[in-house]
Amino acid sequence: MELDHIGIAVARLDAALERWQPLLGAPHAAPEVVASNRVRVAFLSAGATHVELLEPSGEGSPLEKFLAERGEGIHHLAFRVPSVDAALAEVVARGGRVVDRAARPGARGRRVGFAHPSAFGGTLVEFVEVP
Ligand code: CO
Repeated sequence: MELDHIGIAVARLDAALERWQPLLGAPHAAPEVVASNRVRVAFLSAGATHVELLEPSGEGSPLEKFLAERGEGIHHLAFRVPSVDAALAEVVARGGRVVDRAARPGARGRRVGFAHPSAFGGTLVEFVEVP
């Protein structure tokens, strides 16, 4: 399974881009709001994978709670799968919890779904559909 990206929670996307862009040395895609997650994100290339910087967008963003409790830092790992629905069903079949029962629209026009952190020992895992 391929790592699609590493999601990093940040309080302010613009400030985070100023930190990460010189390190990674690659231009970032234009930031976009992902309404289904109430976050604003930007992706930076990092070799075969990407770094996704996420800031809260809108009232009651779940990311606000994450930042308040744990501060800035690694938020999730995202893996490429041929079917998000199948990947989520497999987690459930193994007795794991999921945040999403089915795929929903994510960043970059891709279908995504999240397992619950408890399913992977405290790490939030996102599945990204790459047909
Ligand atoms: Co992500």
